[in-house]
Amino acid sequence: MASTDIDDVVGYWDRDARRDGDRVSHEAFGWTQYDGRGPGAEPLGGPRSALELGSGRGDAVAALAAQGVDATGVDLSGEHHRLALRTWGGLPGAHVVHGQGRAVVHRPPPPAAAGARPRGARRAFSHAPAVPGSHGVQGMCGDGFTGRQVWIHRWAHEPGTWADLLTEHGFTDVRVWVEPAPEPDHVGTLIGTARRG
Ligand SMILES: C[S@@+](CC[C@H](N)C(=O)[O-])C[C@H]1O[C@@H](n2cnc3c(N)ncnc32)[C@H](O)[C@@H]1O
Repeated sequence: MASTDIDDVVGYWDRDARRDGDRVSHEAFGWTQYDGRGPGAEPLGGPRSALELGSGRGDAVAALAAQGVDATGVDLSGEHHRLALRTWGGLPGAHVVHGQGRAVVHRPPPPAAAGARPRGARRAFSHAPAVPGSHGVQGMCGDGFTGRQVWIHRWAHEPGTWADLLTEHGFTDVRVWVEPAPEPDHVGTLIGTARRG
């Protein structure tokens, strides 16, 4: 069986950057796939500094910097990094770094995510809720069904499972919930916050 090739994963996210178009915004900081829906920066707990793992084109980093937070984003895609630097490189308090985070919360297995922040730091993440009956690792063919073998893995759990995993791995102040979609029968957003004990 072929295994994940990190170069292919980088290529996948580089292509994603090119697909993303020219959307540029640092007006709003959000956690959901719906503009203006759900909490703003509150889940971060009013930090002086913040680190975003997998910052893409850096819009969230810029939004936090605009609120006075010293914000740094790390992204493994050279394309995303180039776009972020070009767009936000001059914004005071906004820093973007090209590199691979040890853990982007729902990409490595959850135990790896546990060690990603210094003790006491608050971690917050969001993802689409687990498809019923399909929680745990979610796999996809990053280059489609007729393309190269690019294996993308994401982890999605029910809120209670995330809470148990985070607690088992030393986090405190754990809160995980599903933020409802604007329409009652549409896909919501799972949001989690916890402090590294
Ligand atoms: C779906 S995009 C999200 C971008 C941004 N956070 C946003 O919400 O607009 C995921 C980003 O994570 C980056 N990424 C994935 N795994 C990573 C890792 N291990 N280290 C750093 N960046 C990673 C990808 O290159 C991509 O830019």
